[in-house]
Amino acid sequence: MSESSDLRMTRIPLNHGTGRMPALGFGTLIPDPALTITATRDALAAGFRHFDCAERYGNEREVGQAFQTGLAAGRIVREEIFVTTKLWNTNHRPERVEAAFEASRERLGLEYLDLYLSHTPFAFQPGDNQDPRDQNGNVIYDHGVTLLDTWKAMESLVDRGKCRAIGLSDIGLDELKPIYEAAKIKPSAVQVESHPYLPETELLKFCQEKGIVLLAFAPLGHGIRPGPLEDPIIVAIAARVGKTPAQVLLAWAVQRGTALLTTPRSAARAKENFDISPLPQDALDQINHIQTRQRLNPVVKTGVPGFIPQGK
Ligand SMILES: NC(=O)c1ccc[n+]([C@@H]2O[C@H](COP(=O)([O-])OP(=O)(O)OC[C@H]3O[C@@H](n4cnc5c(N)ncnc54)[C@H](OP(=O)(O)O)[C@@H]3O)[C@@H](O)[C@H]2O)c1
Repeated sequence: MSESSDLRMTRIPLNHGTGRMPALGFGTLIPDPALTITATRDALAAGFRHFDCAERYGNEREVGQAFQTGLAAGRIVREEIFVTTKLWNTNHRPERVEAAFEASRERLGLEYLDLYLSHTPFAFQPGDNQDPRDQNGNVIYDHGVTLLDTWKAMESLVDRGKCRAIGLSDIGLDELKPIYEAAKIKPSAVQVESHPYLPETELLKFCQEKGIVLLAFAPLGHGIRPGPLEDPIIVAIAARVGKTPAQVLLAWAVQRGTALLTTPRSAARAKENFDISPLPQDALDQINHIQTRQRLNPVVKTGVPGFIPQGK
């Protein structure tokens, strides 16, 4: 699937258009605005060329500011970076999709987006409140719109040249298949939690058969300890190959054909997370045989993000 033996340069061709997604992606789920700017800047400097954003993260303007600094300094050109953002659950009604997209695009300060994802398959009550709740604190869902309705509105954005590809996030195989079958423009990417404790093997197989990029979030298990970063097999492989556990987990993800999103917040971590190199086959086999199974982020069950701080 990939086109380079240098893992850091791996770009995965998309099934729609001519775009190629850099396998190593930087995720912008960073609550602090100032840290968003410095971390995005440091990621660019370290070599990351793929950036994952979302209207729900509340920091597209800061991410855009870091892009503008990099672009203005002439260090990078727009075509070199691959930028994704996501439609939030309160904007699933078809008549809300374009306005939500344009607002994100404007905040990011870009003329086009490379990829637009529906953030989750769950539609929430439409409106400006991103976290609509009833008096008992339960999320108010919107049952008047289907994911396919939303998808068709997203297809129209591609048809009109506003974004180059579209995809889905936090979706399981059973929900993905009907969208894939009905879609005029097939999903180019599916963003889900994935790491050695949640390899999503069946979903990955389907995606690879259909040319869909599986874009793994939490490749380091969201940094939760104990977790994949402290797994004895990962730690032993890291010692053997002279890399850090994080680098082992990221290399494994790229070598199995997925793209990934990681969120280093300092320049040193950005360099570390970008500096991956291929693992030997026996190490890949060992990781593939890890038996622990753990989902860390419950967002797929409710559409409520697990790691967005209160007040955002
Ligand atoms: N679609 C969705 O619903 C969804 C959900 C969650 C995330 N995402 C996307 O995925 C992106 C990635 O988020 P993530 O949480 O999965 O990122 P991650 O990089 O897997 O995990 C981040 C955590 O790992 C730690 N970390 C980062 N680099 C490390 C290293 N080299 N060694 C040890 N620890 C390290 C960080 O610690 P420090 O903070 O101390 O650096 C942080 O606690 C997000 O920014 C977002 O774009 C999407």
